[in-house]
Amino acid sequence: MFYFLLNAFVVFLLIGLFIIYWKLIRTAKRIYDALHNQHVPGKPFVPIIGQLSELYQAHKNDTIIDFMTNIVQKYGYYFLVGFGPLTRLFIIEPKMIGDILHRSHEQDYIKPADFVTIFEPFIGKHNLLVSEGAEHDRARKMINPAFYFNNLKAMISIMVEQTNKSIDELLSNFNNQQTVDLQKEFSALTLSIIVSGAFGKQLENQGDLKAIVCESIPKVAAAIEYRTMRMINQVPLLAKLPICQKHIIDQCSQDIARIVDQIIADRREGRSASLSSSSDLLDLLLSAVDSEGIPFNDQEIKEHALTFVFAGHETTGSLMIWISYILMTNNNVLRACQEEVDRILANGTQITYEHLTELNVCEAVIQETLRLYPSAPFLSRECIHEHTIGNENDRQLLIPVDTTIIIDIYQLHRRAEFWHRPLEFDYTRWLRDPITGLKPKLSHPFCYLPFGAGPRNCIGQNFAMLEAKVILASFIQRCNFELEPGQKIIPDIMVNMRSNHFQIEQLNRLRSLTLPDVKTDWLQHVLSNLDKLECLNSLSLVTGEYTDNVYRRSDSMTNFTKEYRFNMIPLARLRQLTISNCSINDLQKIFTEASQLQSLNIHLYSISQNVKSFPTLSRLTRLILKIDNKNNPLFTTNVLSMNTMELFLWKLPRLRHFVFSGKVHIDVANGQRWEILAIDLVTFHFNFQLEIDRINDILESFCTPFWLENKRWFVAYKDHRLFSIPYFADTIASFPFYPPVHSTAPDDRFFFQHIKHLQLPEVPTVDLHFFTHIETLELRCTILLTTLQTMIDLSRCPLANHSPDIFRWIYRVELFATVV
Ligand code: HEM
Repeated sequence: MFYFLLNAFVVFLLIGLFIIYWKLIRTAKRIYDALHNQHVPGKPFVPIIGQLSELYQAHKNDTIIDFMTNIVQKYGYYFLVGFGPLTRLFIIEPKMIGDILHRSHEQDYIKPADFVTIFEPFIGKHNLLVSEGAEHDRARKMINPAFYFNNLKAMISIMVEQTNKSIDELLSNFNNQQTVDLQKEFSALTLSIIVSGAFGKQLENQGDLKAIVCESIPKVAAAIEYRTMRMINQVPLLAKLPICQKHIIDQCSQDIARIVDQIIADRREGRSASLSSSSDLLDLLLSAVDSEGIPFNDQEIKEHALTFVFAGHETTGSLMIWISYILMTNNNVLRACQEEVDRILANGTQITYEHLTELNVCEAVIQETLRLYPSAPFLSRECIHEHTIGNENDRQLLIPVDTTIIIDIYQLHRRAEFWHRPLEFDYTRWLRDPITGLKPKLSHPFCYLPFGAGPRNCIGQNFAMLEAKVILASFIQRCNFELEPGQKIIPDIMVNMRSNHFQIEQLNRLRSLTLPDVKTDWLQHVLSNLDKLECLNSLSLVTGEYTDNVYRRSDSMTNFTKEYRFNMIPLARLRQLTISNCSINDLQKIFTEASQLQSLNIHLYSISQNVKSFPTLSRLTRLILKIDNKNNPLFTTNVLSMNTMELFLWKLPRLRHFVFSGKVHIDVANGQRWEILAIDLVTFHFNFQLEIDRINDILESFCTPFWLENKRWFVAYKDHRLFSIPYFADTIASFPFYPPVHSTAPDDRFFFQHIKHLQLPEVPTVDLHFFTHIETLELRCTILLTTLQTMIDLSRCPLANHSPDIFRWIYRVELFATVV
């Protein structure tokens, strides 16, 4: 008996060892040897455990990035590392990466098995993220239209609403001397946006259901991370065992699946709807059909919708965290964003799609953040057909079947060969050329891959960019944070890249506050507490535009604001102030009390000649002054004369940037008088509203060497406006568009280049000028692509650049025209 048991034990042991060898060692060793024989450097092959202990130690000590950086320094841009039993080939070489990700090699690679094991328990197998081959192709084609800009435009109201809600909640606690965990806040906000965008009104109206979904998803994400860091998900057998938080994933997945099933059923039967005025992601999934007219089934719809939620929230959340970190530690970046937001979203303007397309600095900051802190720091692929990658004249690698490749985006984005001063945060490297509007060219098409590349690239990238811009601009518009001192901020690589130990001190240190058109009682409450914000040095208070209904609605506000507002604002401390609805007396108070003020954006409803008695505002360098009485029946405006303008500007000896818009006396339209006043100005943009009879005489005064050569400032006159160009030139045009006849610009290019939105109600029959900077095109007619190309530089149209689908769209128009 003993011998029998011993024999049986030995047999089981041998079988066990054989299985371990076969499953966990043989393939890994084969791949290691095949690559090692091609002189691929790397860590030595250690069966089963590989470099796990070093990795684990580095993770524990928060030095995982240093660990990887050291390996790159030692071995170069491709090398081998053992992740436990699995050999991984790391690649940081753009040409090789291109060979792996490009559509032409689609059939040679799949997502690795452990990638599928990680996500399958929660989102299933039949979705964009993990499906393969024909199933993926079909789904991608059906879902692509949901992410066209036309459909995404409808999502912007959802993004804005959710962001404002989140900021309101933060601000409503501002008496508490608390710190805010921004990581949690941004994660909750991006989750809320994608959940509302994917599932619509029903979840929004039933707060408890939304809470279940929003609480369960981070739990699942945390459990997945926990299991991945312990190699549970990487070994299929272990992944199935009820250990290491599997119960959390199972329970949460069931809860969410139940709710989502109900939402889909209700939407099919019209019992619930999108949150926006147009279709949301769920509507688009329900209406999508493949080339044979077959729609998705309920299971597929559920999986795709959950995939959007899962793939779209932590990624954008960690992007926002890193952006706020950058803003809090780089004053110049913060200032640049603030200036842009103040200009494009002046006076608390509600964000629209058109505004987002103009936020170029914000866009550049987002792109640079994604370079240094990519939310998805690694991409992985498994080779299923032997295949050669690399440069014929330099280095080539034959990739054996079953090799898992890790593309290290984090290191790629920091390679000195492709990025000038690679470790420096320099958003200007992404700014468009002011003349051509083009973005700078990358040093290599595969050196910047925050959203991946090829047929499996991020389908949600346009969504993510719009969302990040909405959140960034809204936070800049409405509040400001300061970094809690003494924190250790380190990139931490888990499923997504995020920061570790990230807490932000909240509102007792608030330096900047934006109050858009808020209710009077709330405004009163906030204003009466302003003195408690000891660090406040920037305030934006926009109390209604001059529309009839505002005045009808808020007589009390007018009284309130007139009577009390200025008594409550701590003018003496402010360095920046944006304020609307002001009289000349309010302006005088600002000049008298706000001695620290450096930047003022003010909207006046009246101006008089008594500016002579104003004191000097010696620190002001930036002024945006708008005088407007056009819709305001309560006030009359005296037009501003040049004498008053001179008296006024003499009170501002350090003024360098001046933007003016308003009705003026004819004597203000005198270029020669401005030469003395504007000599120290670096930027000067104006929009003088006035009637002019002898325009040629006036234009002549703006044609001196001072205007045309020293400053290179040009002006134009059209529709009773004498304005500087291109700042105040039209950005929207409808065909046929005629530039101003009267202008000092060397040619008409200025006007055509400034048009960003073009409407084409009919096919042009006359020759049109070539538009080079069109960002959105409204086609209301059938037109040949070739005709369109003679009018518009489509390759420069960022929409077209971002989305090849736009090209398809225009192409479809061409086909249609041919059929007609
Ligand atoms: C800053 C935000 C985001 C980043 C950095 C990001 C990054 C990525 C990357 C790198 C991939 C490619 C993965 C691979 O090649 O293996 C990817 C795929 C994907 N992303 Fe995103 N993503 C973001 C936001 C979003 C959003 C908002 C959504 C949904 C609304 C989304 C949905 C997806 C989906 C469905 C895939 C799989 C596409 C396919 O395989 O066909 N992502 N993402």
